[in-house]
Amino acid sequence: MSVHSEVRKVTTHRLSEMKLRGEKISMLTSYDYSMAQLVDEAGVDVILVGDSASNVMAGHETTLPITLNEMIYHGASVVRAVKRAHVVVDLPFGTYQGDSKEALISAIRIMKETAADSVKLEGGAEVIESVKRILSAGIPVMGHLGLMPQSIHKFGTYTVRAKKDAEAEKLISDAKLLEETGCYAIVLEKIPADLGKKVASKLKIPVIGIGAGGGVDGQVLVIHDMLGITQQFSPRFLRRYHNLAAEIKGAVGSYINDVKSQDFPNEKEQY
Ligand code: KIV
Repeated sequence: MSVHSEVRKVTTHRLSEMKLRGEKISMLTSYDYSMAQLVDEAGVDVILVGDSASNVMAGHETTLPITLNEMIYHGASVVRAVKRAHVVVDLPFGTYQGDSKEALISAIRIMKETAADSVKLEGGAEVIESVKRILSAGIPVMGHLGLMPQSIHKFGTYTVRAKKDAEAEKLISDAKLLEETGCYAIVLEKIPADLGKKVASKLKIPVIGIGAGGGVDGQVLVIHDMLGITQQFSPRFLRRYHNLAAEIKGAVGSYINDVKSQDFPNEKEQY
């Protein structure tokens, strides 16, 4: 938070107040300066610099290859643009699961080198020592349960998680553990709507869903998906608000035609 800023930043405290008064939290991803500026000016509450950058920015199949340096590059670009939204940066695969000291070093690098407001990581009991250690340095942590893309090789598919009782119970106990340990919010990805609602009602901290139904405290989508830039990805939970792929291709096509036909540049567009 800048002491010079006139805009009231969205803090973790404001997010918990939103849950208390039943105001839903809006969250979207961004990975670069120009998009983050638009998303922030439109008034979104939270901007996630997600490791989905690995897919939509770098073209990898999974989120696993993205590095800490690459996440820091994206995070710093976003933070430079944002005046109001809370900015949370994903800790990438392999930078917090091994041991809690490494997790703390990774989180400190993100906070120092991007000036983000908090970090997010995937997992419950398995990563709790890392969560504690990061929190002990005063860094706010957002949890992430349900479908955890960094564990894709363990499960093999991106199907709905926690449909069976045992997995649902583990998710509930992980969510409670993350809250008790001090996380300020959690993301629930691709789980049954009833379970999302149950977790949100059991926790005091905000629960933000992606494919977790309408009974949670807020929603998050990947900006490239909701704007219709990505074309192959169409899960049931995704609402597309625009067909930007068609608009971009149309505009680029017009530019190509204008160049070829020598319509561009015209008299007024030159010196
Ligand atoms: O990386 C990401 O975009 C995410 C969202 C899907 C929640 O973690």
